[in-house]
Amino acid sequence: MRMRAIFRVLCAVSAFLAAAAPPSPAGAITFAVGGAPSEFDQWERLAREFEGKTGIRVELLRQPTDTGLRRQGLSVSLQARGSSPDAFLMDVAWLAQFAASGWLEPLDPFLGKEGCAGREAFFPRMIDAVDTYDGRVAALPVYVDGGLLYYRKDLLEKYGLPGPPRTWDELLRYSEVVQRGERRSRPGFYAFVWQGAQYEGLVCDFLEFAGASGEFGVENGAVVIDTPRNREALRFMRDLIGKYGISPPNTYTDMREEEVRTFFQEGNALFERNWPYAFALHESRGSPVRGKTGVAPLPGWSPGGGAASLGGWHAGISRFSESKPESAKFLCYLASYDTQKDLARRLGWNPARRDVYADPELLAKNPHFPELRAVFENARPRPLLPYYSRLSAILQRHVNAALSGMSTPEEALSAARREMQAIVSRYR
Ligand code: GLC
Repeated sequence: MRMRAIFRVLCAVSAFLAAAAPPSPAGAITFAVGGAPSEFDQWERLAREFEGKTGIRVELLRQPTDTGLRRQGLSVSLQARGSSPDAFLMDVAWLAQFAASGWLEPLDPFLGKEGCAGREAFFPRMIDAVDTYDGRVAALPVYVDGGLLYYRKDLLEKYGLPGPPRTWDELLRYSEVVQRGERRSRPGFYAFVWQGAQYEGLVCDFLEFAGASGEFGVENGAVVIDTPRNREALRFMRDLIGKYGISPPNTYTDMREEEVRTFFQEGNALFERNWPYAFALHESRGSPVRGKTGVAPLPGWSPGGGAASLGGWHAGISRFSESKPESAKFLCYLASYDTQKDLARRLGWNPARRDVYADPELLAKNPHFPELRAVFENARPRPLLPYYSRLSAILQRHVNAALSGMSTPEEALSAARREMQAIVSRYR
């Protein structure tokens, strides 16, 4: 009885939302975007430029920053087969779900025609492995993300430290020295900030702490997550907050990308784990860490043993859109050389197109691009499964509980494996 009542309410809500999002007016499309505030300004600018060139108006639908909330918002309108938004950005983490649900219009008819990039323009690891579903291109990559270590060049120098740490052990040692010194004048100083709140970013960080020998996947129907290396990584994450005290106590309650970025940008940290977008903001006018920030690959358990999680955002067109050719034009515009270069220059985003990496102007602005290209080429994807977000939700909850001391790392990963296995077995 109760289930039926809930179902009725959900139907009513979906119908309301579908009705509340009317189709875009003729000659206009609606494009859903989210992210950091700096991102919105750029989307508005691109929308205006595109309209100037094509006469097609792009209405932006603003979504939250958190990827999970963005996915939920889009799923509701797509489940209701609403024709708005016409197009949207998707996290690489939920692409498989959207494609498998039949929500994405195949883009093959548009690629390589009328000035639109062909699939060979993109990194094969993206376009072939991530964007192609059932043999058809379901989305176009807009930018590639990989986790990075940001550090304060000036502080390493001040304390006579040789350069960014290559191992977690070095990171710990450098942190203890610098934090002790800096606390004398800045009591709120913490050496290392990273994403520990209960959300998708925590899964990315956890896999990076585990490094190149960490594991998360489904092999022959069995969930692999409860491994010695992963347990060690989780213990280390918990100890950074409690035992060593080099990461702030609100790491597991508040720390998402933007909280971490602002903490570091205000000059309160030595190291920061974040995505490439943070660099342009750290270097922006008025930033207290401008000119003082270095970027390096993440440390590992041995030198060279680090790993970045593969992130990034891809653009797709809703199967229910009533303006598919116009939406395709906009996607092709996003994938064009000039737009990709522009986004990289203004937002520090790593282009999804291969040719842009050789652009001299871009290299002058982002000198760390070539050095870090290897980070992106070797970045490790999260499992590409249609039901990935359900597995991720379980992992987020248990990893976060271990960080807060509600469970031990052993209990957390063993429970996460059990719960995830129940889901995997159901889908097989
Ligand atoms: C970034 C990444 C995305 C990841 C998210 C986690 O937006 O590009 O792939 O899921 O962060 O917060």
